Amino acid sequence: MELHERIPNNVNLSGDKRLQRALEKWLPNYLDWWREMGPEGFQDKDVWLRTAVSVEPDGWANFDYVRMPEYRWGIFLKPAEPDARVGFGDNLGQPAYQEVPGEFRNALRRIVVTQADTEPASVEQQRRLGQTCPSLYDLRNLFQVNVEEGRHLWAMVYLLHGYFGRDGRDEADALLERRSGNPDKPRILEAFNQPCDDWLNFFCFTMFTDRDGKYQLSALAESGFEPLARTCQFMLTEEAHHLFVGETGVGRVVRRTAQLMKQNEDVREVGGIPFDIIQRYINYWFSYSLDLFGGEISSNAADFFAAGLKGRYQEQKKYDEHVLAEGSFTLPVIEDGRISEREVPLRNALNEVLRGEYVRDCERALERWNKYVAEEGVDFRLRLPSTRFHRHVGEYAGQHFDLDGEIITAEEFEARQDEWLPTRADREYVQSLMHPVTEPGKIANWIAPPATGIKGKPFEFEYVRL
Ligand SMILES: [Fe+2]
Ligand SMILES: [Fe+2]
Repeated sequence: MELHERIPNNVNLSGDKRLQRALEKWLPNYLDWWREMGPEGFQDKDVWLRTAVSVEPDGWANFDYVRMPEYRWGIFLKPAEPDARVGFGDNLGQPAYQEVPGEFRNALRRIVVTQADTEPASVEQQRRLGQTCPSLYDLRNLFQVNVEEGRHLWAMVYLLHGYFGRDGRDEADALLERRSGNPDKPRILEAFNQPCDDWLNFFCFTMFTDRDGKYQLSALAESGFEPLARTCQFMLTEEAHHLFVGETGVGRVVRRTAQLMKQNEDVREVGGIPFDIIQRYINYWFSYSLDLFGGEISSNAADFFAAGLKGRYQEQKKYDEHVLAEGSFTLPVIEDGRISEREVPLRNALNEVLRGEYVRDCERALERWNKYVAEEGVDFRLRLPSTRFHRHVGEYAGQHFDLDGEIITAEEFEARQDEWLPTRADREYVQSLMHPVTEPGKIANWIAPPATGIKGKPFEFEYVRL
């Protein structure tokens, strides 16, 4: 690890002067972007953050107080496996690609750019949340997520500069020019243009949208294009904390709501977030996040698998058969206004296979939240909507479905959407609860404290020095 260079790295950057110069030129533009679009109002505060100092599975992180603009953003890849091979598809068993395969150059650049774009987008979406943090613990977690999304941008920009020539450099510049939610220069994916201006949104975003990232990165971590695989493998270790923040964050809101319900059936009376609002936020973020997996039936997905570029979730660990030339997959589609089943070649259904892994993971989290409700002795269950509900991409886009996935008319959807998706009044109510709590050990009324602090520190620890 070269930790003391201008750009910390474990890719021997100083051995490639051209690349090093190019990235050092990008660095001040990145910092300008961070100051302009990063967490508003906290740039000069000491935050107790972890920084990557090694890529070894045990103890890669150093915890200390850091001012965010001085965070050591670096380029870290999992070490190369000797004799790495393509692990799936038509080129199974051939040596892994050390350069971008020519025929997939454009498609692969698109994959890297799309992933890269989500990283700064989420920082932009979350930039004002610090001002309404429910506790110092949560404030610190928000900033940890933000600086690591910044590092993920570095990880992707390294690939663009290092492997995609001039186009890659132009794309890296454009990543600092687009802005989340800006109609003239929006971020690429819709979920990343949605406002994330209250903490329930933030927890749902890190629960559902970051979790899509986990599955995309996992599929790319299997890639036969080795630099991409090794990059994603290390990003996944950071991503785990983001998912933890989301899952436990929603879970703590759910628990608190159940607790408050025992004081007063109408939790609004006692400053809580009612379950029906939480459910609508879940419906909203889950459905937008499902879109991120792409169409249910996809020739791109088939091509990427065939080429050995994008595998399944845990391709090596979970499966014995890695070619998939034969199999088929049956999925519900809409024909003549009715739901019917269609059988497609398995390779064409790989987006849907990955989405299925994601949905099961979300179901597991829902079970856990419902357990919290039951533990408090309250009779209520949260649920996930059908994967057909409120979709904007794929087979179900342009049609209307209820929460159970049954087809309904546009008029019915219009009439009932206030039951299913956050209303303006919901958002205003949640916003009305967002007041900053910054005294160590104190927490806002609408959320339960965490079970433990971070890295052995108690909840009362001064995670951010204000
Ligand atoms: Fe990320
Ligand atoms: Fe993340």
